[in-house]
Amino acid sequence: MNLKGRSFLTLKDFSKDEIEYLLELAAHLKNKKKRGILGDALKGKNIALIFEKPSTRTRCAFTIGCIDEGAHPEYLGKNDIQLGHKESIEDTARVMGRMFDGIEFRGFKHETVEKLAKYSNVPVWNGLTDRYHPTQILADLLTLKEQFGYLQGLHFVYIGDGRNNMANSLMIGCTKLGVHCTILAPKALWPDEELVALCHSYAEITGCELQITEDMEKIVGADAVYTDVWCSMGEEEKAAERIALLKPYQVNKSLMEKTGKPSAVFMHCLPAVKGNEVTEEVFEKHAEVIFDQAENRLHTIKAVMVATLSDYRMD
Ligand code: CP
Ligand code: NVA
Repeated sequence: MNLKGRSFLTLKDFSKDEIEYLLELAAHLKNKKKRGILGDALKGKNIALIFEKPSTRTRCAFTIGCIDEGAHPEYLGKNDIQLGHKESIEDTARVMGRMFDGIEFRGFKHETVEKLAKYSNVPVWNGLTDRYHPTQILADLLTLKEQFGYLQGLHFVYIGDGRNNMANSLMIGCTKLGVHCTILAPKALWPDEELVALCHSYAEITGCELQITEDMEKIVGADAVYTDVWCSMGEEEKAAERIALLKPYQVNKSLMEKTGKPSAVFMHCLPAVKGNEVTEEVFEKHAEVIFDQAENRLHTIKAVMVATLSDYRMD
């Protein structure tokens, strides 16, 4: 599999085989690190980490991923550069492309990360935009694979804000890999119809089911229940409205029991607002899986950088 030179903006751009390869590479790099072996796949590379929005996991994963494989990470926060203010995104991209070997971007508009990729001429990785969060999905899929041993045919239910970056990206990732995917959300927060249609076309190829529903009974049979914050970064003023709308969609003990599967896992991309989208009780019961997800951000993000910047081969 050769992904060298590719950007990673959304999973829409990657085939099932390519996503599976990235998961396999991540598991390989994880195993290597656990054995105390660090590599030099990114030796001599300089990596820009642009953050318009705050981050714990994504920033740390990119930073440590670089250092583990010999690259130099350079953090550029929202007040450090002129991106889109005193300098056009196109010009910043062209400057960065002359100096850096790869660029991570987290921010608001998805169009910004697209412009960076178009004008920089180096691989650009999406560390989260308002629309997508693809590196998170790789960590989630790797965690599911570790938990169940397989992905194809699992029943995955995402509950809560059904039109945010997480819901969008999970829908793409699950349907591309044949995981049955249910988005359980009030109609006012259903995903964009065009994206749903696209994901239905992926589901048809991989033979899984995708449903968008308000019906709480659809939680029955879930192998994994996933939620995210009710107000994403930049939507803080919507808090009261969202709490009123999403209260019935909270993941609590009785909702987990409703799956009818004692083996069902609960997942969260973090950060979590306990007492809103999930109770402290459910969160703590499933903490091991949740923090596996967080750790897997490192291994999967490292895999994306290694695959797109180097000739590294798994032995
Ligand atoms: N899940 C995630 O992206 O976490 P951060 O916002 O801390 O990067
Ligand atoms: N939907 C959340 C995800 C955080 C990782 C947000 O955009 O804030």
